[in-house]
Amino acid sequence: MELQATLEMEQTVASEAPSTGQTFELPKNVFAETVIDVQHYTDRLFRFRITRPASFRFRSGEFVMIGLPGEKPVFRAYSIASPAWDEELEFFSIKVPDGPLTEHLQKIRPGDTILMRKKPTGTLVLDALLPGKRLFLLSTGTGIAPFASVIRDPETYEKFDQVILVHTCRLRAELQYGFDLCEITRNDPLVGEEATEKLIHFASTTREDSPRMGRITTIIENGSLFETLAMPPLDPRTDRVMLCGSMDMIRDVKTMLDERGFDEGSNNRPSTYVVERAFVD
Ligand code: A2P
Repeated sequence: MELQATLEMEQTVASEAPSTGQTFELPKNVFAETVIDVQHYTDRLFRFRITRPASFRFRSGEFVMIGLPGEKPVFRAYSIASPAWDEELEFFSIKVPDGPLTEHLQKIRPGDTILMRKKPTGTLVLDALLPGKRLFLLSTGTGIAPFASVIRDPETYEKFDQVILVHTCRLRAELQYGFDLCEITRNDPLVGEEATEKLIHFASTTREDSPRMGRITTIIENGSLFETLAMPPLDPRTDRVMLCGSMDMIRDVKTMLDERGFDEGSNNRPSTYVVERAFVD
């Protein structure tokens, strides 16, 4: 009897929808967390921070499924943009007009409830890469999110001599998250000293003039990325690559990496590069 009562109590934990105040039953594999902070960068991009459940563990670079309370919540994959040691969880999101989740998610405010499935997963983790000297983190748009976690993980600097974060967006304002992130990382009490020495940030635009311009494919192919940073081009003997962003960018960069002798790795079979597509609606 007593056990049954406990089980029933667990299953009927309720969650409140922010807009309607209605309560909904919370599935057992989902956490209900509270929004702490929301920052809008542009009309297409925003970041938000939520409370972290005490039992929730993840590896830097992994993603979780996020949704909003409702009768039939829509869940989408979101890379966790905060490091594994942080007390809160951060996410960096696109806003899509009429997007099944982001149309509503972009309206969240501190105090609202966010649903998060309990199991994190993903391939953009240090475990899926073989040892190397330089780590290239290549991203477009919100694809920078998993790298916001990776560059604040002390293990990244234990494993690599240089960490090169490349972030390409259409417009200058879309690069701001990356600039803020690198400043926070270089001033961080835990990784700041190593990051100041080893972290290199290369930000470029493709549809608006800025000091550095060009698609990731272009700046690798024409060598301007390496010329600007005064370093040798990609080499599978010394370099490891993580890729995250638009599907087209991933497809084209994958081809370039394969042509240069890189090989795609996974959690079960670490190798010289790993890939994840950024969430798009
Ligand atoms: P571009 O402006 O030349 O299309 P999006 O906002 O559509 O997700 O794109 C983010 C960035 O990814 C943009 O700078 C875009 O460049 C770039 N991009 C899109 N497709 C590719 C591709 N196939 N290879 C490299 N970069 C790409």
